[in-house]
Amino acid sequence: MRSKKIIKLKHLIYCSKPTCFDFETIKSILTTSRENNSRTGLTGSLIYRSDLYFQFLEGPPGAVTDTYEKIKLDTRHSEIQKIREEITDRRLFASWAMREDSVSTWMWTREEVKSGILKRIKPHQALATFERLSRGADQFIHTGES
Ligand SMILES: Cc1cc2nc3c(=O)[nH]c(=O)nc-3n(C[C@H](O)[C@H](O)[C@H](O)COP(=O)(O)O)c2cc1C
Repeated sequence: MRSKKIIKLKHLIYCSKPTCFDFETIKSILTTSRENNSRTGLTGSLIYRSDLYFQFLEGPPGAVTDTYEKIKLDTRHSEIQKIREEITDRRLFASWAMREDSVSTWMWTREEVKSGILKRIKPHQALATFERLSRGADQFIHTGES
């Protein structure tokens, strides 16, 4: 009997602060991300607002690590802080080479971000944010199809 090959995945969550924030910058980050991620097998979500980036990367462990190393060198953001890095067996954003999300009303106000809420967020709370986001995406897709 052939044994089933279990492919390990990793997810990584970090937050950072944009150094420049405009439409062109976001467009350029997302275009490069989607091209590269489709090639390397990464998926995920990038939450952004002028005062924050909050990103969820998932995929083969080596690809997640290499991409995060590149992201850390990017001068379009600063104060990069890793929040969570875990081996996992499932993807939250399987059909998104990099989904883009603006900050939802249930996330954080500018005042909260300014006072450092993301620097204090617990790893499980960060994951819960993206789990909620991914569930919302699925609900939206189902609504659209019915
Ligand atoms: C907030 C932010 C998120 C990014 N996310 C990704 C990503 O998911 N994948 C990726 O390949 N590059 C991402 N980048 C871009 C990388 O920092 C880097 O510019 C890019 O990987 C270089 O690609 P290249 O080696 O093809 O030139 C991101 C950059 C920023 C500022």
